[in-house]
Amino acid sequence: MTRISNSSVARNTTIALLSIGALALAGSINVVHGHGDVQPQAVDTNGLEAIGDEIAAENPYRLAGGEQYELAKKIGASGYNQNCARCHGLEAISGGIAPDLRLLEDGEFGDEWYMERVRKGYSQNGAYKMPPFEALLSQEAMWAIRSYLETQPKE
Ligand code: HEC
Repeated sequence: MTRISNSSVARNTTIALLSIGALALAGSINVVHGHGDVQPQAVDTNGLEAIGDEIAAENPYRLAGGEQYELAKKIGASGYNQNCARCHGLEAISGGIAPDLRLLEDGEFGDEWYMERVRKGYSQNGAYKMPPFEALLSQEAMWAIRSYLETQPKE
């Protein structure tokens, strides 16, 4: 008798633990889902010097240095979180869905590659794996995000 009730207590405990596990799992799925639903957003670049219509060959805020560069990194961090993190990972640390953007090449060559990808996106077999951002983000915003990315620790 005692044995049976003991084992039924154990079974109930197991069931309780399993449902807690399921709840936790459902919770984390919700979080991931919510994150994926974040809509792309225009970035407020107030305070950054305007660049004009022609796409710069090199990050103008890195070249300017000083306060412009500092502000660009700050604006870039929030622009990145709103528009890129859902695929490229929080703090630019890739979770494996898309490349790790901390590893982009530094300097002008990296700038050019970055701008090309961000403006045009990337499609394969007619489907966008990365959407084009040129209609959504200003050039200032794109360079701000680059400023943030290139100053993230590489690991
Ligand atoms: C819907 C998912 C998604 C979003 C959102 C997204 N990307 Fe991407 N991105 C990708 C994928 C997938 C690739 C890999 C494409 C390929 O195979 O070259 C990529 C590639 C890149 C590359 C080239 C990386 C390399 O190593 O060659 C850059 C730069 C880049 N993305 C920047 C951005 C920036 C900046 C944003 C936000 C403004 C952004 N991406 C938003 C999915 C995304």
